[in-house]
Amino acid sequence: MRLGFIGTGAITSAIIHGLGTSFADQGVIHVSPRSAAISTALAQAFPHVRVAASNQAVLDESDVIILAVRPQISREVIPDLRFRADHHVISLIATLSLDALTGLVAPAPAVSKAVPLPSVALGRGPTAIFPPDPIAAALFDRIGTAIQVDRPEVFDALSAATGTMASYLAFAGAVSAWLVRNGVTETQARHYVASIFDGLSRTAIETPEQSFAALAADHATLGGLNEQLLKHVSDHGVFTALGEGLDAILSRITARPGA
Ligand SMILES: NC(=O)c1ccc[n+]([C@@H]2O[C@H](COP(=O)([O-])OP(=O)(O)OC[C@H]3O[C@@H](n4cnc5c(N)ncnc54)[C@H](OP(=O)(O)O)[C@@H]3O)[C@@H](O)[C@H]2O)c1
Repeated sequence: MRLGFIGTGAITSAIIHGLGTSFADQGVIHVSPRSAAISTALAQAFPHVRVAASNQAVLDESDVIILAVRPQISREVIPDLRFRADHHVISLIATLSLDALTGLVAPAPAVSKAVPLPSVALGRGPTAIFPPDPIAAALFDRIGTAIQVDRPEVFDALSAATGTMASYLAFAGAVSAWLVRNGVTETQARHYVASIFDGLSRTAIETPEQSFAALAADHATLGGLNEQLLKHVSDHGVFTALGEGLDAILSRITARPGA
């Protein structure tokens, strides 16, 4: 496979690191030159990664094209590119609709959207794909779990839910900082909190028959510490605010300013 990336930033770097050296058996990866620091570092780390001379050179030398520029500049960059009818295009640009993309990449017929997460660098985490696309699914199954969906509203909702990552990490950071204020070393606090949440995630994944509400109830002994904090944060509107925030993100995605 000749894989090409337009946009060599954080998520492209994560995907290429996730694919790792084993991808060399499958083919080559061409990356666009910007950012020079990232593209150069990727080419130095992986012998099968080549920095193309231009965005167009990425297209000319690749069969599967991943669009990974920011939404704001996608409208400037993509119309200038000459796609081929045999290109397979996968877009990571959340706010650009499938219809708009299809027009922009013509005559390339096959277009799908995907939302990989930074943890693909570790070969973990879900990547939602719409519409179902065997090429995209095979690629993202190598670096985590491909979740193929056939309804745009489901893909949009899954995309919106990825907006919770920074808040989750800030939540973990707040617990860790509280531990430090109470005499725990930074190293120990960080590891302790990350291990608590790692254990909870594994429990949730390994007991798919249990809803999150049931798991929360299981972890909140009557009159215990978890019940007390759950009530406190609920009473202070944390979960209401979370739902409202997700609604606002979904509205932003579906408004599609770049569409
Ligand atoms: N990060 C994530 O977790 C994630 C997950 C799923 C989807 N996405 C989507 O993927 C896209 C990229 O996100 P990102 O986080 O990787 O952003 P990023 O780190 O800012 O990377 C974007 C890259 O595009 C480059 N660029 C700017 N102008 C360009 C041009 N004219 N031609 C070619 N490249 C150009 C930038 O280079 P300069 O630095 O030189 O400007 C930068 O390296 C976005 O649409 C985002 O919504 C991101």
